[in-house]
Amino acid sequence: MSVAAADIIIDCVKNKPNALLAFATGNTPLLTYKLLAEKVKEQQIDFSKCFCIGLDEWVGVPPNVKGSCHYDLHEHIFKPLDIKQSQIYLFDGLSADILSECKKMNELVREHGGVDCLLAGIGVNGHIGFNEPGVDPSLEAHDQLLHPTTLASGQNYFKEVTKLEKGLTLGLSQAMNAKKFLIVANGKSKADIIKKTVQGEVTNEVPASYIQMCENGIVIIDKEAASELTK
Ligand code: F6R
Repeated sequence: MSVAAADIIIDCVKNKPNALLAFATGNTPLLTYKLLAEKVKEQQIDFSKCFCIGLDEWVGVPPNVKGSCHYDLHEHIFKPLDIKQSQIYLFDGLSADILSECKKMNELVREHGGVDCLLAGIGVNGHIGFNEPGVDPSLEAHDQLLHPTTLASGQNYFKEVTKLEKGLTLGLSQAMNAKKFLIVANGKSKADIIKKTVQGEVTNEVPASYIQMCENGIVIIDKEAASELTK
């Protein structure tokens, strides 16, 4: 799963050096990021012209706190790939003006002609970024009240109990319009939601299920996450 995802990101940058890349945090893509950094060094791929955005961010969590998308993306991908600050734009979870924060992100995505490659994990509730069950799939970047399962699993990323309530996220329309929309999932705990995502009804109750409508959508899973598929 991680090798395949890393290779797709590399191909994207090889074909378009100034690609706009969107990255998720969470546990699932960690090995992808490690392999990506190794492969980029080995193959001497030039990432100096690409632009990187974060898929989402926790509202109210400072960027220097481990567990914030800022911190984790810098640690796991931007530092290893030597991506400069001028090549990065992340949601500011501390912004007092959430609307303008989302507007800035939307303008940036538009200026780049859309996202070239978006790498997402999937929540056990089917969320993509912080597009939670019930989300309007036509939305671009927006803030979202977090679902109870996201609030609970979110604590695992932090060293201390952290107040979580809302997230800032790219919208599903931006993911669906990405030239490559990748979802990675591994482990038994994702088997049920992967079945709903790829074999179930396309519904905003399972936000990830919209990937069925994307010609450029790719779901990359391991055997455990695939264990409930019947087709
Ligand atoms: C994080 C994000 C989330 C996670 C999802 C899965 O930036 O966008 O949607 O991708 O919650 O998290 P893990 O990979 O930790 O199971």
